[in-house]
Amino acid sequence: MGKILVTGGTGFIGSHTVVELQEAGFEVIIVDNLSNSKIEVVDNIGRITGKTPEFENFDLSNRGETLSFFLRHRGEIDAVIHFAAFKAVGESVSKPLEYYRNNVGSLINILEAMKLSGVKHLVFSSSCTVYGQPDKLPVTESTPRRPAESPYGNTKSVNEDIIRDYCHAEKDINGIALRYFNPIGAHPSALIGESPVGIPNNLVPYITQTAAGVRKELSIFGNDYDTPDGTPIRDYIDVCDLSKAHVVAIRRLLDGKNKSNYEFFNIGTGRGLSVLELVNAFKKSTGAPLPYKIVGRRAGDIEKIWAETTLANNELGWKATVPIEETLLNAWKWEKKCRG
Ligand code: WQD
Repeated sequence: MGKILVTGGTGFIGSHTVVELQEAGFEVIIVDNLSNSKIEVVDNIGRITGKTPEFENFDLSNRGETLSFFLRHRGEIDAVIHFAAFKAVGESVSKPLEYYRNNVGSLINILEAMKLSGVKHLVFSSSCTVYGQPDKLPVTESTPRRPAESPYGNTKSVNEDIIRDYCHAEKDINGIALRYFNPIGAHPSALIGESPVGIPNNLVPYITQTAAGVRKELSIFGNDYDTPDGTPIRDYIDVCDLSKAHVVAIRRLLDGKNKSNYEFFNIGTGRGLSVLELVNAFKKSTGAPLPYKIVGRRAGDIEKIWAETTLANNELGWKATVPIEETLLNAWKWEKKCRG
């Protein structure tokens, strides 16, 4: 089946993708500098799949180390899935140079090293954040990208352009960008999940920590948006569904089924949920208490976005299937496991 390099493979989406790759029969090697994840994830992946992935710890923004890794593994690696990046929207506003140096610099190092070591296929972790607040919904792949609301979001757009231009220049390199909507949930085994460091920025980990009593109450950032219940709408996608999309994209490239050497796909459920709808779905599926209050809007938030998923459904043959209640229950199981 081949060997896949997963950068950022001890992170939230990366670790779940390693599980799906191994279960699909691929060998995996993870590279991660553990700046935002823990080494225990490698063993926990092994506990799920019965095969502990190879792991190397270095910083992909270091050009020399990245090149020497690829040359040491020349002839072994069939494709790369690139997750490794800083991803805190708020932090990127205060530390833009760190975000550009890390997120863009790492990608450039990987592309250069792929070329020098004969690795031809790349799947890139992009984000619906490249669309900003679309005028028309649902969002299709033809929806124009908008200037990002943060340096983090801009690194996703810039990296898509870098891959597009490099694949145009180097015809033997093939790239697919997957534009995720809002990844949530955890593996049903509760052995891996989302482990934000410090106070969670994202909604679902904040919900589960509130239900677990780690946080006093959830603050809902604004209920004066132009939506049915006034709270913002997002397309929340189960992390296992999302991870399976990466396996499908890798197979598309390895089997030569891609229709051009740079493609991009929306990876969402096609269903928009408001914050209040998600809160109520969590309470219904878990029975857990969830104190919350409505506060002012959060700077940089868009009002509503959800995906039109026909292209991914038809071209990739991939569709999200996990019901939201099951996703939220898995997130809750993971939270309780983390609290011991
Ligand atoms: C979702 C909704 C908040 C927390 C971001 C990044 C995106 C991707 C996913 C990395 C919003 C509301 C949240 C809280 C709340 N990240 N909210 N109280 O902002 O849609 O997307 O995370 O790839 O690139 O932009 O996700 O989970 O932060 O917020 O009311 O304590 O929940 O206002 O409407 P977001 P989120």
